[in-house]
Amino acid sequence: MNVTALNSSPNLEKGGTALLLEAFLEGMKRGGAETETYYLYQMDIKPCRGCFRCWFETPGHCFQKDDVQMLLEKIAASDVVVLASPVYVDGMTGVMKTLIDRMIPLVEAFFQVSDNHCRHPLREHVVPGKVVLVSVCGFTEVDNFDPLIAHVKAICKNMGQQFAGALVRPYGSSLPHFEKYGISIDHIFEAARQAGYQLAKEGKISEEFLEQVKSELVPREQYIKVVNDRFQRLLDSRNSAP
Ligand SMILES: Cc1cc2nc3c(=O)[nH]c(=O)nc-3n(C[C@H](O)[C@H](O)[C@H](O)COP(=O)(O)O)c2cc1C
Repeated sequence: MNVTALNSSPNLEKGGTALLLEAFLEGMKRGGAETETYYLYQMDIKPCRGCFRCWFETPGHCFQKDDVQMLLEKIAASDVVVLASPVYVDGMTGVMKTLIDRMIPLVEAFFQVSDNHCRHPLREHVVPGKVVLVSVCGFTEVDNFDPLIAHVKAICKNMGQQFAGALVRPYGSSLPHFEKYGISIDHIFEAARQAGYQLAKEGKISEEFLEQVKSELVPREQYIKVVNDRFQRLLDSRNSAP
């Protein structure tokens, strides 16, 4: 099973997105999958120009020469694509959306009706694979992910892919810091590993693992107090600097 993971956090391998993604990919590798991870912020990904040359002049190929050609080849050949993005203003990061817009060379221009909805057919070489969303956000409520999950599900239908589940972690910006407050988060990462293992072995992810990944770690009021105290300290240290 070929897996392409696209991490769009500007915090690269140090962010909460990467921590959750790595655990999930570890599980997939344990289950026999071959994985490759790309950090979109380090890549040259130009915006779609909306010219449709990739449909009518050079079918399947964008005229822009950047890192997207290589990424599209990987995506087209993947059994699983993992979209890893922090929540940015209730959605995915800009660079992730920019890449997704550039995926239209993977479909043909023609309209066809599928499940009573107008769609474009996938080009022949594109594997109709699975898509997993991995996301973290700063706020505490799980509903912060609702718009992003709805968007990724819609993208899957649009691009002829199967949505295989969302690993989402509220107050994910604190994932790298919980241990130093004596709060164990091992079970979150273990659930992410098990989700990856199960997807590689059985082709699906149980709701049980997804629930564990997003489960509450500390009561909201307690978390908000810790976060606000930290923000205040950051502001104070700036004000007291010479
Ligand atoms: C521009 C920007 C917009 C954000 N918007 C939201 C938001 O709407 N809701 C939310 O819960 N967190 C929001 N966050 C917080 C991030 O989701 C959070 O810091 C996350 O942990 C970042 O992931 P990373 O550590 O992998 O970079 C935002 C952060 C940034 C920088």
